[in-house]
Amino acid sequence: MTGHSLREKEAHSAIHSAIEEQIEDTIGSLQKNEISFYHGVDMLLEIWENKVLGHAEEEENSLYKEKRSSTPSVSNRLNKLSRDHELLKTLTQRARSLARSPDIRDETIEESNAEWEGFPPIQPRQENKDEIISINKFLLMLLKIHSEEEERILWKGDLH
Ligand SMILES: [Fe+2]
Ligand SMILES: [Fe+2]
Repeated sequence: MTGHSLREKEAHSAIHSAIEEQIEDTIGSLQKNEISFYHGVDMLLEIWENKVLGHAEEEENSLYKEKRSSTPSVSNRLNKLSRDHELLKTLTQRARSLARSPDIRDETIEESNAEWEGFPPIQPRQENKDEIISINKFLLMLLKIHSEEEERILWKGDLH
């Protein structure tokens, strides 16, 4: 992902779609028990922390900064998008601490079908699993709203 691709509508929009699809697929796999729960949770955290927040940080440091100086009239709308970035960060931190919570990992069940070596034989309680999935779904909803709004403000003539 480069600063250049952020400035091009199609390339930027493709980044949004690819990340959202990856999150959607991983949540789906978790819900259908197609992957071990903690492996899925770690995959999701890695997407949120590196891809989503990494993308947001890159935008703040390049695209948003440039738009704020070239088109001051759009600053208010960019501030709202920046607030979304902050909320995504706060909720991702919440998802991270939830996944680390000792309450979540204290129910040990032998996992007979671990699909790779070294996976801990631990399963979460159902209510904790539901909470983790809910926060990921909520984050995804927020991300989709944000991406749509961002694309609209930056490329569909809403800049002036
Ligand atoms: Fe963004
Ligand atoms: Fe973006």
